[in-house]
Order: sequence, then C-alpha cells, then structure tokens
Amino acid sequence: MSTDLTEARGLLIRYGGDQFERAFVRAEGSVVWDDQGREILDFTSGQMCATIGHNHPALISAMEKAGETAVHLFSGMVPQAVLDLAVKLQDWLPKPLKRVLPVNTGAESNEAALRLAKMATGGYEVVALGGSWHGVTGAAAQASYASDRKGYGPKVPGGFVLPEPNAYRCPVDHCRDRCDMTCLKAGLRLFDMQSDGAGAAVIAEPIISAGGVIVPPEGYFGELAGAARDRGMMMVFDEAQTACGRIGAKTGAHATGVTPDILTMSKTIGGGLPLAVTATSDEIEEKAHAAGFTFYTSHVADPLPALAGIAVLETIERENLIEAAAEKGARLRAGLEALQQKYEAIGDVRGQGLLLGVELVEDRESRKPNHRLGAVTTDECFRRGLSMNIRRRPERGAVWRIAPPLTVTDTEIDRALDILDGALAAGLDHLAGETT
Ligand SMILES: Cc1ncc(COP(=O)(O)O)c(C=O)c1O
Repeated sequence: MSTDLTEARGLLIRYGGDQFERAFVRAEGSVVWDDQGREILDFTSGQMCATIGHNHPALISAMEKAGETAVHLFSGMVPQAVLDLAVKLQDWLPKPLKRVLPVNTGAESNEAALRLAKMATGGYEVVALGGSWHGVTGAAAQASYASDRKGYGPKVPGGFVLPEPNAYRCPVDHCRDRCDMTCLKAGLRLFDMQSDGAGAAVIAEPIISAGGVIVPPEGYFGELAGAARDRGMMMVFDEAQTACGRIGAKTGAHATGVTPDILTMSKTIGGGLPLAVTATSDEIEEKAHAAGFTFYTSHVADPLPALAGIAVLETIERENLIEAAAEKGARLRAGLEALQQKYEAIGDVRGQGLLLGVELVEDRESRKPNHRLGAVTTDECFRRGLSMNIRRRPERGAVWRIAPPLTVTDTEIDRALDILDGALAAGLDHLAGETT
C-alpha cells in the first residue's frame, strides 16, 4: 500500500503535541525506525510503556499465546490469564494490597481507584497535587493539574489541589532547593477551609512526572498519607510511570516506604499493550463491594493484556531489570550531571532510576525557564537520532523527561549523551545567532 503521508495525515484528528513528519514503521529494544530507514534512539519508551524494550520476544510470545487461547471474553467469564496475573502481582504489590482489577489505561485505573475510594468512604472529595497527570477521562482529568484543563467546561465539584513539593521551583515561594513541606501544610489548611467534610481520596504520583519529574522530599508521602487518614480519606498512589522497576524499585510505594490504600499501575506493566491495574486491600475491596462498587468496561479483565502483563513482570524478574534500572539510571544521571557542569543552561538534574528530569534555564540564578532552548535542542536531538520528550508548558519549567526502556544498553546511553551534548551546543549556538 503506498500512502501519501501528507494526505493521510489530514485524515487524523490531531490529539495534541507535536508530531514528527515521517511515518514510523518498526520498533525494537530502544530503537525505532521511520519509513526512510532512519534509526532513532527512543528515550521516552514510546509513551513510557516499553518497559522491557519495544517488541521484546516475551511480549510477542504473549500475544501469540492469546491468539492460540483467547484474546477477549465476556466480563463474567474470568480468564485463566487474569487469575494468573493476580497471583503474579502478589510478588509485586506491597502488603496488604492484594486485590486487583485489570483494565486498560492509566486513566481508567485511576477512575476505578477513585470510584473504589468513594464507595469505601462514602465521600466524594478528591485532593491531588499540582503538576499531576492522571488521565483525560472524567474523574482522572478532574484530578490532573499539569495542563490541558482549559476549555472543557466546569470542573466537577469536590476537586482540590495541593501545591506540589517542587524544591527547584517552590510553588509557594518559600524554599529553594530543599522542600520543607510548607506547601503541604498551606495546601491542607486551604483544603480544610473549603472541604464539606466528605473526603474520599488523596491521589498522587510518587514522582510527579508530567509536572516536571518532581521527586517529593523524604517523608512527604508519610505526611500526605497521614493527612488523608486523619480526614477519613484513602491514599491513592498513581504508579503509571513508577511501578514495575523503572525507578529501581518494584513500585514507588516500595521506594518511599509508604503503602497507599489503593495503588494503580498502567504504562509500565503493559510493556506497550493496553494493561492497567487497580490494586487494594481485602478490607477496602469488601467495603466497596458491599456498597455496590461496579466498573464495567468492554475490556475489563481481558486475557490478551493480562498475558502481556505476566510477560512483562516475568521478564523484569528474569533479566534483573530493577537492578538494571538503578545501574543504568546512575550511568545516565552521571552523564547528565557532567553535561550540567559543561552547560550553564542545565539548571537541575533529578529523578530516580530510569525516570530522570533535566531542567533548562536561562541562567542558574534567575532559573527562568529556557523553553526556546528546549524546543530547538529537542528538534536537534531528533535530527541526530535521539527522541526526547520536553515538557514545555509556559507556566512550568522546560524539563526533559528521560525514560529509556529498562533494557537500554550502556552503549545506547553513551550514544544518547553524545547526541545530547552535540545538540545542546548546536542549540545554544543557534540561539546566540538569533540574538546577534
Ligand atoms: C502518572 C500518570 N497517570 C495516568 C496517566 C494516564 O494514562 P493513560 O494515558 O494510559 O490513560 C498518565 C499518562 O501520561 C500518567 O503519566
């Protein structure tokens, strides 16, 4: 089939963000290829989902197995694969979390979490963090404050936001470089003033990714979970990006030592297939069930994504990818910190494991976001064979979110760092040319 790319592109609804000009035809490991055979290092793991690398043989076998057994079933017919996934997840969930609901997208897993919390508490108020992203569906979008709220009509009653614990850009202009959690105290005070006492959930990402890869300070989640408990609310961790080894731990709950009441996993568990999971304790499941909890979707508990999830978790275990995330993350981070020494424009390097953020500034004193450099350099990286994701909302910093597959090799990391180095130099030259 020979498709005119420009004409075909005109047939698509533009769903947001910039799109590359070429069509993309193949992906394997940490590399993707366009229709002209150009090889590009994928340092975003697709949509942060290709945890074990693109098209890992284990993932392909899982799809073949689904083809030989069952791809989709009636929601009342629980597939063997879903039972196997539930058992496998017991090795991955912090106790007492054990009951799981397999759905497809991160947004859905958060919808399910919030519905569970509402049913279990009888409340409806949901508190989220500034810079959060939980999905584009109703309740998930209501709790997302990173971007894209404008123009979609009135917000759902009961939504509250706490200022995010961003030590590099303190949202309450109080700290610099070390968050002392004044933002949390101030936010809770405002919430208490406004709440009508019907709290259901506090939802948070262990690392606030879309908001600029913000790592909350030690002790933050203990305080936040305590605040939720004091108000009779459920603590929900959205681990779309932090679960399944990416940050060098099984989950963000393991990394922070705080076990939430409800934990959601999505992107990383499917390895590129649409699997997401909402997990909770026996006690909360019983309460929600007794209150009439439902969550019907066309693809709830489907066997194909469940098989993919098992393959991803088993591959992470077999290939020691949690340790790899910590080791490769340290190598990548050291390289980024070396670039920070070289370029004044790199204001901050942060993150954990293979979920890293690099913030670009005009100068280190003012910390004015350098969006222009971010845009030019990201394009230059791509021209040189490296795909990078830059968060470039004007109201937030210009932050690269760097998250290659956990299977990334040292050679690929070094190649990416070389490309980034060259692209930064070229980007700075370009901007200097614009101002002279
Ligand atoms: C932390 C987090 N939660 C939820 C979502 C939504 O997931 P999905 O796009 O699969 O609905 C995202 C997506 O970017 C995310 O980063």
